[in-house]
Amino acid sequence: MIPQELPLTLSYRWPERRNRMQISVFLIVGLCFVLVGHGIQVSPKQPYRSTFHFQPAKNWMSGPMYLSGIYHLFYQANPYSVIKGNMTWGHSVSYDLVNWIHLEPALYRGDPYDPHGCWSGSITFLYEENPVILYTGVDNEGIQTQNLAWPKNLSDPLLREWVKSTQNPLMSPIDDTDPKYFRDPTTAWKGPDGKWRVLVGNQMNGHGLALLYTSKDFVRWTRSMNPFHSSNNTLMWECPDFYPVSINGKYGVDTSSQEKFTKHVLKASINLIFHDYYMLGNYSSETDHFSADTDFKGDASDLRYDYGKFYASKTFFDSSKKRRILWGWVNESDSQSDDLEKGWSGLQAIPRSILLSKNEKQLIQWPIKEIEKLRKKKVSFEEKELKGGSVLKVPDITASQADVEVSFDLPSLTEAELMDTSWIDPQLLCSQNTASVRGRVGPFGLLVLASKGLKEQTAVFFRIFRSNNDKYVVLMCSDQSRSSLREELDKTTYGAFIDIDPIHEKISLRTLIDHSIIESFGGEGRSCITARVYPELAIGDEAELFAFNNGTLDVNVSRLNAWSMRKAQLVSPNNRRKPKI
Ligand SMILES: *[C@@H]1O[C@H](CO)[C@@H](O)[C@H](O)[C@H]1NC(C)=O
Ligand SMILES: *[C@@H]1O[C@H](CO)[C@@H](O)[C@H](O)[C@H]1NC(C)=O
Ligand SMILES: *[C@@H]1O[C@H](CO)[C@@H](O)[C@H](O)[C@H]1NC(C)=O
Ligand SMILES: *[C@@H]1O[C@H](CO)[C@@H](O)[C@H](O)[C@H]1NC(C)=O
Ligand SMILES: *[C@@H]1O[C@H](CO)[C@@H](O)[C@H](O)[C@H]1NC(C)=O
Ligand SMILES: *[C@@H]1O[C@H](CO)[C@@H](O)[C@H](O)[C@H]1NC(C)=O
Ligand SMILES: *[C@@H]1O[C@H](CO)[C@@H](O)[C@H](O)[C@H]1NC(C)=O
Repeated sequence: MIPQELPLTLSYRWPERRNRMQISVFLIVGLCFVLVGHGIQVSPKQPYRSTFHFQPAKNWMSGPMYLSGIYHLFYQANPYSVIKGNMTWGHSVSYDLVNWIHLEPALYRGDPYDPHGCWSGSITFLYEENPVILYTGVDNEGIQTQNLAWPKNLSDPLLREWVKSTQNPLMSPIDDTDPKYFRDPTTAWKGPDGKWRVLVGNQMNGHGLALLYTSKDFVRWTRSMNPFHSSNNTLMWECPDFYPVSINGKYGVDTSSQEKFTKHVLKASINLIFHDYYMLGNYSSETDHFSADTDFKGDASDLRYDYGKFYASKTFFDSSKKRRILWGWVNESDSQSDDLEKGWSGLQAIPRSILLSKNEKQLIQWPIKEIEKLRKKKVSFEEKELKGGSVLKVPDITASQADVEVSFDLPSLTEAELMDTSWIDPQLLCSQNTASVRGRVGPFGLLVLASKGLKEQTAVFFRIFRSNNDKYVVLMCSDQSRSSLREELDKTTYGAFIDIDPIHEKISLRTLIDHSIIESFGGEGRSCITARVYPELAIGDEAELFAFNNGTLDVNVSRLNAWSMRKAQLVSPNNRRKPKI
């Protein structure tokens, strides 16, 4: 259905020839999963298909890279089915991270070390414009090894074909390394000694860790005796990521940078829990020692990129715009049989630029600027009262395909409910205090993908509590419990605390709505929650958008801007016509 609707050519032109000196190189790689299937009947009704999020033509996916003035997205794809398996490296390219052309896969399974699939990995630039892939091969016994591939023809600006090294596998499980828990190499970085370093995800005695490998030539790798970092409070670390972020800076930092004023981020996707956690710390490239500011505790206090559905993410450094960009894979919340009927499964969150917060305690994430090109008609208002228990409709907007920014003025907070010190799990707190549970200061926020009469609605909202020491705690929730009349869906309610002082700062929310995905950024990107919903009534033109306040105290909408969004262009490989170069 979708591929036939797509235009055959993109409106922008490919460069006439490649200017090797001017074109900078970015790569995105990551991906922990995707699937694609031939011969699958795609239902003619696709109310849940997203329109400005990246998806392969069919089936499910995850992962990112950027190179030569062109962004490359590599993702895990199953060419045969919407069910995970037969992993290849799917490949799509873009000039702007918004509109994409799907190409043939970059890597296929089938060599002695990867008959069971080419699984996740990363891209590293060996030197300026020379990218290589490190990926995990899985053999028929499930044994995992790390392998190398490079572009067959560096003069091809699209880097369509990749060749695997004849020296593969480069890293095999040795000694006490469990061969079934040995995967997902990071982007490598170069130390002051000129040696490459790379991390590989691992599990030992049921605990997650990252192994450190070093190499002079990128081919012969040595495993360090001690793990780079480990945690007794997590399972297997999938898709680890390790990169510097600038202290007090406005720009991203290259992975190999020796810049002094940085902290480092160590991220792990925790197997079976399916959340992406990160810690901040100090890294010395002289000693290869990483000291974490706070280690994973295995509880709700651990930092996450996103407190909803978001997994197997990867960052890359965009050298042209000096920013670090995060891609994450967003799973479905319906069943596998729904996926078979839809003919696709999984999509990528809108790429987010990443910076360190001013207090150096967390990351700040924001949708890349380019997505704003898709904004069309704008609706806005300022200084509107939202009395306790009221809703306010945002008119004249395609509410199923929208970008919304709203900020609130709060009443005096001395009357806020008192926070119980036992409330440490924000997700639990949000599940017990959904939007239909009235409070004092909040719940207030947005009702998105709402049906007329509000039978269906997803509430993205805040509640403010007072703690004993007269500080305030801001809770952000995404309440899916009334998102659809369909019953068999995963409607888990998500929650996060936001590190914000509501006395001195406005509480703001940005939400990107795209049919079945709702991505919310609270407190200017301090806390993010992504949800998947499948309404039965609130689809297409039937969907509506509201601001609401269900606290007893009045709040005001200080400002609301909402834009109807255009579709991004995704040109399918089924269109045999190749882009003109
Ligand atoms: C993987 O591919 C083989 C054909 O090579 C097919 O028989 C099998 O069903 C596929 N498995 C999945 C999960 O797609
Ligand atoms: C490499 O790519 C360039 C540009 O697409 C093309 O002109 C050239 O023929 C290719 N070389 C080979 C060996 O395929
Ligand atoms: C983690 O557990 C192992 C035993 O499984 C123990 O030897 C080690 O000291 C523990 N590490 C930490 C940091 O608690
Ligand atoms: C990291 O470095 C900063 C600045 O030197 C220091 O204040 C902090 O204590 C260090 N953190 C750790 C965990 O060593
Ligand atoms: C995907 O979502 C389903 C439904 O919510 C959940 O059961 C499953 O664990 C998720 N899988 C991953 C890999 O996140
Ligand atoms: C909301 O706006 C009204 C009218 O402008 C004003 O009287 C009221 O004080 C405002 N309330 C808050 C909480 O800012
Ligand atoms: C507000 O709270 C009332 C009472 O609990 C509930 O019936 C209603 O659905 C809530 N409104 C919203 C928008 O959640």
